[in-house]
Amino acid sequence: MAEQTLFIVKPDGVERRIAGEIIARFERKGFTIVKLKMFAFTRPMAEEFYSVHNTKPFFGELVSFITSGRVIAAVIEGNNAIATTRLMIGATKSYEAAPGTIRGDFGLGMSDNIIHASDSKESFEKEVAVIFK
Ligand code: CMP
Repeated sequence: MAEQTLFIVKPDGVERRIAGEIIARFERKGFTIVKLKMFAFTRPMAEEFYSVHNTKPFFGELVSFITSGRVIAAVIEGNNAIATTRLMIGATKSYEAAPGTIRGDFGLGMSDNIIHASDSKESFEKEVAVIFK
């Protein structure tokens, strides 16, 4: 069933000039790009975007990293988009992510883990509202 999800190439991915390669993976997989935007998170936007994590010890680090440079956000559409995109990005800790996944192939970081993707329909709806108002 066609479904939409959102991913964000984080500041490390944009800075390292691998955003095109990352976006191409989703196109080659068969997803349609519905929306695409380059921007820089403001601190209030980042705090809202990551509000589910606002009690976690790493919240400050998370907000300061995501606001540290420009990002590219995309809404994509295709069969089983949310779960399939999560499989494609790999485990949160890039140094543990499986080879073949985006984090597994391109990084070693945790805050700087290259890409974010919505983990549920509820997260997608909240995140898309923050980014594509
Ligand atoms: P992301 O998919 O953007 O969702 C929340 C982010 O928090 C996650 O990717 C990581 O970048 C970050 N994160 C999760 N756990 C930790 C942690 N223990 N220390 C630092 N950052 C973390």
